[in-house]
Amino acid sequence: MSRIALVPAAGGGSRMGAGRPKQYLELAGRPLLAHTLARLLAEPRLDRIVLVLAADDGWFDTFAWPEDRRLAVLRVGGPSRAESVRNGLAVLAADAGDWVLVHDAARCCLPAAALARLIDTLDDDEVGGLLAVPVADTLKRADGGLRVAATVARDGLWQAQTPQMFRAGLLARALGGELDAGVTDEASAVERLGLSPRLVEGDTMNLKVTWPHDLPLARAILAAERG
Ligand code: C5P
Repeated sequence: MSRIALVPAAGGGSRMGAGRPKQYLELAGRPLLAHTLARLLAEPRLDRIVLVLAADDGWFDTFAWPEDRRLAVLRVGGPSRAESVRNGLAVLAADAGDWVLVHDAARCCLPAAALARLIDTLDDDEVGGLLAVPVADTLKRADGGLRVAATVARDGLWQAQTPQMFRAGLLARALGGELDAGVTDEASAVERLGLSPRLVEGDTMNLKVTWPHDLPLARAILAAERG
């Protein structure tokens, strides 16, 4: 059974407003992306870790990266996350192996246990699935402005995380279709084929660094892990 981790890292991180893509922001002495890669490299059941960068990425080569024969870099990022993943898969083609685990570069605090749980749970699954956590907060639907139109029942609602682990051929087929704004993760593309990805309990520590206030949180998580 072969497994490839595909890491889309071709975003510009505009919501961070940091003057450089967020994957290259410094966290505990290393670029954020180095933490993400270290977490994936620590899982021996991943045969390869393939990074998808923007073709015009001028940051990657300015840092030192782990010397690991499992690590590969493709400069084929697209204008959206889904297109970056699709382009990466297209380059891998038949070499993508049995399973592809797509993991956001921006999720630099992925706990080892959550990654292991995903692989343990899905290795025999027909379709695949994703890490996710049950929604904890009460949810409100707005009326188009800042007034509450309704409270949305949160029973059965989960927040999707990554990695999202799917059979390679299935994922290529799912992302081969139309990629409109509704395809915000791999699972949503697979769902459009009429299939039901499996939910695997993720971890609230597996945050996606998106906004400036996420940086101190990520730093605190990394510091707490180091004890
Ligand atoms: O912007 P957002 O946080 O949703 O992006 C999630 C992941 O997808 C990030 O790791 C980002 O670098 C990546 N991405 C990409 N290509 C894009 C946009 C985002 O690889 N065009």
